[in-house]
Amino acid sequence: MATSSPCVVISDEEQGYDLDLFCIPKHYATDLEKVYIPHGLILDRTERLAREIMKEMGGHHIVALCVLKGGYKFFADLLDYIKALNRNSDRSIPMTVDFIRLKSYCNDQSTGEIKVIGGDDLSTLTGKDIIDTGKTMKTLLQLLKQYNPKMVKVASLLVKRTPRNVGYRPDFVGFEVPDKFVVGYALDYNEYFRDLNHICVISESGKEKYKA
Ligand code: HPA
Ligand code: MG
Repeated sequence: MATSSPCVVISDEEQGYDLDLFCIPKHYATDLEKVYIPHGLILDRTERLAREIMKEMGGHHIVALCVLKGGYKFFADLLDYIKALNRNSDRSIPMTVDFIRLKSYCNDQSTGEIKVIGGDDLSTLTGKDIIDTGKTMKTLLQLLKQYNPKMVKVASLLVKRTPRNVGYRPDFVGFEVPDKFVVGYALDYNEYFRDLNHICVISESGKEKYKA
């Protein structure tokens, strides 16, 4: 079983790329420090995760549960890759989708309080954007238990190396990243930056500008 399979590790020394080397919406030009994970790399890694998931889930019917809002890009791209595999290989996974919304962050801090909204058919695979402290995910898994799923697997695009982590590690991980607040690819800072393709590090002036 691929529990805690290897992932792309981004080191603490990683400087990222100058914004000028990539395409960034003009309205965010001064709000970001660096491009941290370019969109293309996110997609390439997600394509491989789809294969790993397929290998492990092949045969089972899955309910793909998206954790909104931050997980929507990762979820949609991951499902597109799984769908491509379903079309082009001998084995395929019957799949339905569902969505749940969790909210726990204000500015760049976890509030400790987790709000859960939506979700009607909770039975299996969940896709989340980022595992920071792991508290949100632990709460969600507790909630999912009430539905007696046969199996629950968690795919997360990012996992943060942080001393605040409560010891939770998802089954499928795209990238392990340093303890920095990142935005883009649906990840937000007070609802801003979801409309950014790359995962970027926010600047101090960006934090100030969009402060709640
Ligand atoms: N960015 C956006 N949302 C988050 C993060 C982050 O780094 N950590 C937890 N939620
Ligand atoms: Mg958020």
